[in-house]
Amino acid sequence: MRRKLAAGNWKMNGTSAALSELEALARNFPSSDIDILICPPATLLHRAAGIVRETSVSVGGQDCQAAVSGAHTGDISADMLVDAGASAVIVGHSERREDHGEQNETVRAKASAAMGAGIKAIVCVGESLEQRETSKTLDVIADQIAGSVPDQSTGDNLVVAYEPIWAIGTGKVPSLSDIQEVHDFIRTLLDQRFGKETAQSVPLLYGGSVKPDNASDIFGVPNVDGALVGGASLKASDFSVIVKALE
Ligand code: G3P
Repeated sequence: MRRKLAAGNWKMNGTSAALSELEALARNFPSSDIDILICPPATLLHRAAGIVRETSVSVGGQDCQAAVSGAHTGDISADMLVDAGASAVIVGHSERREDHGEQNETVRAKASAAMGAGIKAIVCVGESLEQRETSKTLDVIADQIAGSVPDQSTGDNLVVAYEPIWAIGTGKVPSLSDIQEVHDFIRTLLDQRFGKETAQSVPLLYGGSVKPDNASDIFGVPNVDGALVGGASLKASDFSVIVKALE
């Protein structure tokens, strides 16, 4: 009903030399039953797209602006990502929300721009440690989904990634039942807003310290359709194990 997705977010890591890892990943997966995506830095995107052509790996951006073009020095539009070969873009990552003060409204506009440009928006949501410890997780997720997910979302243009901020890059992972609680909740929120058919077709990814040795357990959780992987996506050998666990 919905496709599985193993997505790698290289964040601000990688110069030309890192493309050898992408070459190795593409060699490992000439074909696959699942979707495999790598989001390299924007500086590598065009070359990365050339490397993965005619394999089951695709490439995406890590952010885009809502504006189509104009006087926005240093910014990148969704159309520019498409032109460079992207099929998706991450929006609303907690590092963008924190480092750049992005609020839900901005994230929603960016997701909407991505959908308008014909690529998937991977909308990230997730609570801080303080919010989890004060039992605010579901309220935070509800607020972020309501505010960040555009009205024109469908199973073809939207992916939601649940990334608890305290699990990112820390080696800490929520219990499997905590992951399931949030993923079930997100599915219910999508159902209430978009109806069952759309809600059932949107892939829900878990992100936060996904590694070769915990991926299988996480992928066994109902309503987890894949992962958004940071550190373990930088090495083809690590990421390939994660992809195989999802296949
Ligand atoms: O977007 C992926 C990410 O934030 C998770 O990072 O390094 O914990 O897998 P990491």
